[in-house]
Amino acid sequence: MSPLRIAVIGAGVIGKTHIDALSHVPDLRLAAIVDPSDEARALAARHGVPVHADCHALLDGEQPDGVIVATPNATHAPIGLACIARGIPMLIEKPIAETVEAAQALTDAAERAGVPLLVGHHRRHNPILRMAREVIERGDLGALVSATILYTFLKPDSYFDIAWRRQEEGGGPILINLIHEIDTLRFLCGDIDSLQAIRSNKTRGFVVEDTVAVALRMRSGALATISLSDAVAAPWSWDMTTGESPQFARQTVPTHFFSGTAGSLTVPTLELWRYEGARGWLDPFTRTGLPLKPGNPYALQLQHFARVIRGEEAPLVGGADATQTLRATLAVREAADTGRPVDLSA
Ligand SMILES: NC(=O)c1ccc[n+]([C@@H]2O[C@H](COP(=O)([O-])OP(=O)(O)OC[C@H]3O[C@@H](n4cnc5c(N)ncnc54)[C@H](O)[C@@H]3O)[C@@H](O)[C@H]2O)c1
Repeated sequence: MSPLRIAVIGAGVIGKTHIDALSHVPDLRLAAIVDPSDEARALAARHGVPVHADCHALLDGEQPDGVIVATPNATHAPIGLACIARGIPMLIEKPIAETVEAAQALTDAAERAGVPLLVGHHRRHNPILRMAREVIERGDLGALVSATILYTFLKPDSYFDIAWRRQEEGGGPILINLIHEIDTLRFLCGDIDSLQAIRSNKTRGFVVEDTVAVALRMRSGALATISLSDAVAAPWSWDMTTGESPQFARQTVPTHFFSGTAGSLTVPTLELWRYEGARGWLDPFTRTGLPLKPGNPYALQLQHFARVIRGEEAPLVGGADATQTLRATLAVREAADTGRPVDLSA
């Protein structure tokens, strides 16, 4: 079987990650880059592939077997719709779109046309989360009661040289970072029924928030909390602890804590805490490290995308699923701004 030809639309930070990951997936080959920047032109030349300034030039010319859409959020839906009109399967970066309405329109269009749509919530392909989900689903923790997620780290001052990251709704960590934790929570613990939130911009003083606290009620009845700040000197974040992105100095600390009636699990450290004999706060715990074969989630995501294009698997994160993650993430903003809980149960 010859490799599938993939075009990468948007060759910025994450587009380059996808281009690197493509070289680790024998079933896929980079066929073209779409990006108007000079940097992208040079990148395409290095890879010996054509470069186009916009997706219509690509779609009118080559017929790639699939596209990866890694452009700014507001362009996901229009580019996605253009690809659907040509019947081309897509891997669209998170968030699926900028609004729930645009996300729904894209999902509906893909379903109507029968075009596969995979959304890039790459963490779901990480073996760490796969194992955590297995442990929770198998009932090793008993009934899940509580989940605590820490996402605390320091974005360097230079990150904010780009104005929209300081000034525009959507430039802050709710839509950029928290969305990953909302999706992680949904993947491990199921649907969210309601949430409450507060946010603050006090530390940096920019228009966008720098710190957020969220309390969530899961459909299962479990309660969860997420504490996020991008303005603190702290190591408790997914990016720093999982080794997923080599540019982060790695720390070996847990960031996610799941507790049930029979035990607890830490992530990404994957330690299972259980009572062997007597059960109570005075009794000793057994702490077991779970063995894990690590894997690069971006390459695993692309291997899955290849099987999706070939019709061998349904997308692990489809449009409707990603729309629910977006809806809950935007609800955090709404809850923080109105001071009222947001019901997501309907
Ligand atoms: N899954 C992840 O871990 C992850 C990480 C970072 C970003 N993202 C998502 O990926 C997307 C891109 O983020 P980024 O940080 O790479 O942004 P970026 O600004 O680094 O890159 C965006 C690129 O898209 C190009 N571009 C803009 N409009 C275009 C268009 N209409 N057609 C073609 N190219 C266009 C720009 O020239 C730029 O090179 C965002 O949706 C973001 O949320 C996901």
